[in-house]
Amino acid sequence: MSTRRPFIGGNWKMNLHQGEAVDLALALADKITGDSVQIAVFPAFPYLLPVATVLHEKGAPIAVGAQDVYTQSNGAFTGEVSLSMLQDCGVSTVLVGHSERRHVIGETDPLINDKVLAALEAGMDVILAVGETIEQREADKTDSINTGQLGYGLAGVSDEQMKRVTIAYEPVWAIGTGKTATPDDAQRAHMVIRQAIAFMFDQAVADGVRIQYGGSMKPGNAAELLAQTDIDGGLIGGASLKADDFAGIIQAAAATV
Ligand code: PGA
Repeated sequence: MSTRRPFIGGNWKMNLHQGEAVDLALALADKITGDSVQIAVFPAFPYLLPVATVLHEKGAPIAVGAQDVYTQSNGAFTGEVSLSMLQDCGVSTVLVGHSERRHVIGETDPLINDKVLAALEAGMDVILAVGETIEQREADKTDSINTGQLGYGLAGVSDEQMKRVTIAYEPVWAIGTGKTATPDDAQRAHMVIRQAIAFMFDQAVADGVRIQYGGSMKPGNAAELLAQTDIDGGLIGGASLKADDFAGIIQAAAATV
């Protein structure tokens, strides 16, 4: 347990059509009160505005984030969405470098770094996701992959901007698989990430940064994971699609405060 305010994100990925997304947002707005835990949900692009609108109307303490963003402010970039467009839709946080963007879509570390810098420059909060694949883990490369992705992703970020950065440690083999890192394994990876941030910035920056765990977190395993010293929240995929499960994880986070 730490003094850092827990941060729980719900990554809805390419799920839920408009009615379902709005209904889920409304259900969460009814269930979630209090502000001991920071909360954000990440709907698909077309539903950012309706979800942000209902959450705003309900006065819910839930921010709306985007699952991705492009670096340029406007112009001939077919299919991309700019930071100012997202801000127009009520988006305050962007997720960058999710493993599905890295490994399915093929995003590279330099592009991820450009996105982090552009988002911070635009005044957004950023969640930078890092994590090793099963092959990398079995080859004992977990720490070098995580610290490498951090080093690339955070290159050029200032100490001041780090106040708006959250790291999500998401072992790729645990995402959507039902396999979860053990609390000890996850804690060790988080500790190494925090040490790397202390090395890149300084100890004060490292002590302040939140590091979320992502990878099959659910109400049944959240408390044990969130009790670890260096685990400051979660980035939740599957379990964020059900209001009761997501609220259960937020409750587990609130219990650590
Ligand atoms: P999961 O996804 O909770 O379904 O494993 C986590 C994520 O991809 O952020």
